[in-house]
Amino acid sequence: MRRKVTVVGAGFVGATTAQRIAEKNLADVVMIDIPEKEGPTKGKALDMLEAAPLVGFEAHIEGTSDYAAMAGSDVVVVTAGVPRRPGMTREDLISINANIIRSVTEQVVKHAPEAIYIVVTNPLDAMVYAAYKLSGFPPERVIGQSGALDSTRFRAFIAMELGVSMRDVHALVIGGHTDVGMVPLVSCSSVAGIPLTKLLPRERIDALVERTRKGGTEIVQLLGDGSAYYAPSAGVAAMVEAILLDEKRVIPSACYLRGEYGLRDLYLGVPAVLGAKGVERILEIELAPEEHEQLRKAAELVRETVSKLTL
Ligand code: APR
Repeated sequence: MRRKVTVVGAGFVGATTAQRIAEKNLADVVMIDIPEKEGPTKGKALDMLEAAPLVGFEAHIEGTSDYAAMAGSDVVVVTAGVPRRPGMTREDLISINANIIRSVTEQVVKHAPEAIYIVVTNPLDAMVYAAYKLSGFPPERVIGQSGALDSTRFRAFIAMELGVSMRDVHALVIGGHTDVGMVPLVSCSSVAGIPLTKLLPRERIDALVERTRKGGTEIVQLLGDGSAYYAPSAGVAAMVEAILLDEKRVIPSACYLRGEYGLRDLYLGVPAVLGAKGVERILEIELAPEEHEQLRKAAELVRETVSKLTL
């Protein structure tokens, strides 16, 4: 049976996500955007589809403003919302994007009640919490894309620093999807199994951690208009692949916590096993006292952002 993924929001992140999913032949893809953007949404879908003979994929891609088109989706990804502009933090987006998440979630509940729901819209940890509360879905089926992106950035910076293959670098970033809330776990980062601390002096590692925290801001400043989309869409595609192929991949993601890491009733980035059921397990690892403290602070920040929402 053919699988189906709906991407809500056909902007930079959404369209790139749709392209990655189709080109990997993971599923047929529906892109949904607002009625005013129906033309561009259909145009992007058709443009992607016309590449299929050259790229060699079978997936169908459709663009529409009709939410009913998401019916039967295995996964729904929401990227609808406004992105950051220079000088803005992810938290500045809260009021506009919360309303968007509310209306999109109503549609997901109506048309794709069995889907696994991945949230990409920022401020991520608050938006995925809102999506969870508003949808009434079980927590394993509502997941936020954050750690996949933050960790791939950390991996890329480590690989560039050492001049080694990106594929040989593993790194784990948990915590909040904000510059201050991020918790890059140096103790869990390695190159072909060699602990990072054996390859780089502390001050270089600290610099890479700092660059990772500000990775999104670095791109916002360089682009001058809008925020990152190539690496974010790669993060989403990896999560979708793990779910559709039931891979049980360990991908740090924003998950609903029920006592893990001493935290409950909030979404925060943690190492998660992703498979057909969504978040199949949260890996609870022992953290150094300072890492635990950073995670606790990240949780506080997320709760502060969530308190601004009326759910
Ligand atoms: N339903 C469907 N689409 C919507 C809705 C809605 N209710 N509201 C807005 N959109 C669409 C916009 O029309 C636009 O096409 O969402 C799209 C967002 O695309 P961009 O403006 O290009 O933003 P993008 O860079 O893709 O970022 C989207 O992802 O990473 C996060 O912080 C980022 O929250 C932002 C989101």
